[in-house]
Amino acid sequence: MNRIFSGVQPTGNLHLGNYLGAIRNWARLQDQYDCIYCVVDLHAITTPQDPSELRANTREVTAGLMAAGIDPKRNIIFNQSRVSGHAELAWVFNCVARLGWLNRMTQFKEKAGKHRDNATVGLYAYPTLMAADILLYKATHVPVGEDQKQHLELTRDIAKAFNSMFGTEFFPMPEPLILGAARVMSLRDGSKKMSKSDDSDYSRINMADDADSIALKVRKARTDPEPLPESTDGLEGRTEAANLLGIYGALADKTVQQVCEEFAGKSFSQFKLQLIDLAIAVLAPIGHEMKRLSEDPGHVDQVLSDGADRATQIATPILSDVKKVVGLT
Ligand code: TYM
Repeated sequence: MNRIFSGVQPTGNLHLGNYLGAIRNWARLQDQYDCIYCVVDLHAITTPQDPSELRANTREVTAGLMAAGIDPKRNIIFNQSRVSGHAELAWVFNCVARLGWLNRMTQFKEKAGKHRDNATVGLYAYPTLMAADILLYKATHVPVGEDQKQHLELTRDIAKAFNSMFGTEFFPMPEPLILGAARVMSLRDGSKKMSKSDDSDYSRINMADDADSIALKVRKARTDPEPLPESTDGLEGRTEAANLLGIYGALADKTVQQVCEEFAGKSFSQFKLQLIDLAIAVLAPIGHEMKRLSEDPGHVDQVLSDGADRATQIATPILSDVKKVVGLT
């Protein structure tokens, strides 16, 4: 049986990278698969969080998933800390994964930066918790943006090592599903990915931005002086142009080549007007729905608690089997 699992951190604004790289695909997968979508609050606290902001962000991200079309009745939406099996299985995986494997993780290197000794143990062990998220449900497919690919490879290494340590075929090898806009870049710097943690809000379009903010951010987005090329070959070395055309293509469900053909020879100011209209048409209804849901926190809390109950029902027998395999019971 195929089962989808994916997660998103409640650490700030959901942005267009989260939407095009992950959340939109999650909504599209719900017709074909059993899907479990998790707001990963335990991952969020690997860097310091203000408790009341964390609580609010967990609700806001949940509202974002629902506003993007993920149906909490057909799928499971919950926050990670409510199902204690995530933390329990992560500990077992801490005793399977090797330091050498974690030392290779580029996300840790980027996030810890020069102050490695000051990073939390949780930030270092982040990928073993992510492996636990996925394997606690024996998920087979994991829709993510490209930045999470390395963590998925580690998850497979852990599953393989567990199976071989205990001589079983217990865990499946989960496959990454990298669909659509795998890597949306910053609007201010085409070499950096669009991210919640960028200091400049002009670097990203947030899913909850209103039409005026979307228009302003697209107008201010960095470009180059050349007109738009007629084919993707003309995007070589033009990271900002490639990013904006990629965003347009993803929003319009077109290939970048088709977008080039549509706008060949046009100026960025002409192109940006179309991009603004398209981005507003796609995102404004989502922003509205997020606002509506934020006025009903009781409903969002109910979705999370119902989701946690259903997730627990799947996780409990799997965790209990893990304990038997390892010799804990
Ligand atoms: P997070 O919260 O950083 O991002 C959530 C999802 O959005 C994708 N994404 C992007 N895609 C394209 N372009 C971008 N600029 C961009 N920025 C973010 C991410 O790839 C991700 O799919 N570790 C994960 C959360 C996690 C998880 C899991 C994911 C925890 N456990 C288990 C899958 C399975 C993270 O920090 O995502």
